[in-house]
Amino acid sequence: MQEIYVGIDIGTKSVKVVIGEENLGGEMTATGIGQARSEGVSRGNIVNIEKVEKALMNALADAEKMADIEAREAFLAVGGERLRTIASRGVTAVPKDKESIDARSVSEVLRAAKAVVIPPEAVIVDSVVREFVIDGQGGITDPVGMSGVRMEADVGLLVVPKTSLSNLERTAERAGLIPDGQTVAIKAAGMAILSPDEAEIGVAVIDVGAGSTDVGVFLRGTLVWALSVGYAGESITKDLTVGLSLPFDTAEELKIQFGSALEDAVDTAEMVSIPGIGGREARSVQRRFLAQIMEPRIEEILVLCKDGLLNAGLLGKLTAGIVLTGGTSLTENIVHIAERIFDLPVRTGAPDLPGQVPEIAKTPQFSTAIGAILAASDRRHRADLVGENKSLWGKLRKWFVKKI
Ligand SMILES: Nc1ncnc2c1ncn2[C@@H]1O[C@H](COP(=O)(O)OP(=O)(O)OP(=O)(O)O)[C@@H](O)[C@H]1O
Ligand SMILES: [Mg+2]
Repeated sequence: MQEIYVGIDIGTKSVKVVIGEENLGGEMTATGIGQARSEGVSRGNIVNIEKVEKALMNALADAEKMADIEAREAFLAVGGERLRTIASRGVTAVPKDKESIDARSVSEVLRAAKAVVIPPEAVIVDSVVREFVIDGQGGITDPVGMSGVRMEADVGLLVVPKTSLSNLERTAERAGLIPDGQTVAIKAAGMAILSPDEAEIGVAVIDVGAGSTDVGVFLRGTLVWALSVGYAGESITKDLTVGLSLPFDTAEELKIQFGSALEDAVDTAEMVSIPGIGGREARSVQRRFLAQIMEPRIEEILVLCKDGLLNAGLLGKLTAGIVLTGGTSLTENIVHIAERIFDLPVRTGAPDLPGQVPEIAKTPQFSTAIGAILAASDRRHRADLVGENKSLWGKLRKWFVKKI
């Protein structure tokens, strides 16, 4: 039987819905796609449920029509500025009568790591296992079969304010859906755009959206760390509204059509026509002037991401470099400026599911929503807590192998 998954990504600029169908062979394809302009979302947080509900209903209706099914349960991507990682450590004694560590002991130590007190207003969205330590020896990813007497698990708990998650769930419910689990948005995005090799040797995914820039580090096949910065494409557009005295929507259009992340790369002879406001005449400015406004903001956003990676001690672990995604990753020359800032190889990433997938689902704006259906499938295939330290690409390997 075919499994159906519905992924929801409530972004600051748009709400995205993806309906995925997975065949018996474990191959996923997207059969329904919907997108609607978001109003009522600020920096990845819902601030007006009614407006978001309308956008979600529109996007959902389009996706359902395309897939020709009625969606019920939905898997939610949770991201945005208020995501935090809380470090936690669980300890367990391995029973003396056991020759080696088994799955049960692993479940136990993970449960212990999650039993910490988190702030009362916070809720755990997801967790990441960084390493296991057995009798003082760290760096272990899969302790099953090893011997020892004391096992520790170093875990990161990804938390958001309770209201952030409940607003998402309520919005989904009001749109007629049953919220059935959630994942961290950047984890979903990584699942949609990384190759298993990149995720194994160390890579950072940077999702530069409209309201927030989310960073996630993948190592040994799983997400190990996440951070969110409250600046992204909207901040770039706002700078243009100030620099060019334009309304937001006009500045947004100009940015998308003529923007660039690198001032020096734009020819001084290139001119852009700017529509007149309030009956004034259209004027013409150098395209380079747009890049001059955009470059410092893009640099600032990426430097904030770099600082976060540096402080977490992870910058040196990114053997596969950086993968940029999200709508703002479409900015001309953003890869070059990122390479300069990080001094690492950088590429852009967008989802590439097999089958007859609509073109829009292959854009970097859809990484998170496509990833949400992959994460929903991944959760279904992981029976218990033990699966948490296994590669996210275990079950999906088939799909990726086909892609490469
Ligand atoms: N060609 C382009 N060049 C530059 N920016 C672009 C381009 N296309 C889209 N963008 C920007 O991408 C952003 C939207 O991307 P995306 O859909 O990933 O954001 P979102 O998911 O709605 O927001 P967030 O994840 O921050 O809540 C907007 O700020 C938009 O201006
Ligand atoms: Mg987004």
